[in-house]
Amino acid sequence: MIQQTLVLLKPDAVKRGLIGEIIKRFERVGLKIVACKLVKPSKDLADKHYPLERQEFVEGIGKKTLENYKEMGVDPVSEIGSSDPYEIGKIVRGWLVEMITSDPVLAIVLEGPNAVEIVRKLVGHTLPVKADPGTIRGDFSFDSAFFANAKKRPIKNLIHASGNPEEAEYEISLWFTKDEIHNYKRSEEEVMY
Ligand code: TYD
Repeated sequence: MIQQTLVLLKPDAVKRGLIGEIIKRFERVGLKIVACKLVKPSKDLADKHYPLERQEFVEGIGKKTLENYKEMGVDPVSEIGSSDPYEIGKIVRGWLVEMITSDPVLAIVLEGPNAVEIVRKLVGHTLPVKADPGTIRGDFSFDSAFFANAKKRPIKNLIHASGNPEEAEYEISLWFTKDEIHNYKRSEEEVMY
């Protein structure tokens, strides 16, 4: 059950000086930081991190955007030029790649029991407007798909966290070499394991 997961503090988190506030939440829950670095990602790394070939991922972004438009009573074609989830996902993904290659990102590998699920819970809903108070996105951002899309930019939701253990393994290998990932004990391991 001990898992590793990738977290990226995106440029909006870094530029707003929220690194300490966010990392504190992972440390206090008992997750172990086993790798950490500030990187300005290359276009190649960003393209691999948000893979265009993973249809369900690109379409998933488009579907969430469409749901949001529906809730707001906005016509997707007049707003973003399409009503096709894959086409919309591609546009939003392009904005994401541009954003994460424009400024530094703090990349972190966290380790612990059920780390993937615990991190997603602390991070909260993709859309900060819907994220519960107490979650990172709920506490530090008010952004919404409607607001972001109207400005032709990605949602400023501060953080990326791997969605499942397979994604975590792939993403960790993209961002870190094996010797950048450390092995040590945290004091909780004596009490909690
Ligand atoms: P997704 O994988 O659906 O969410 P999560 O980050 O919670 O796993 O989407 C990836 C990123 O795409 C998300 O963090 C922010 C961005 N995004 C937008 O910029 N606009 C949008 O309308 C949506 C749905 C996502």
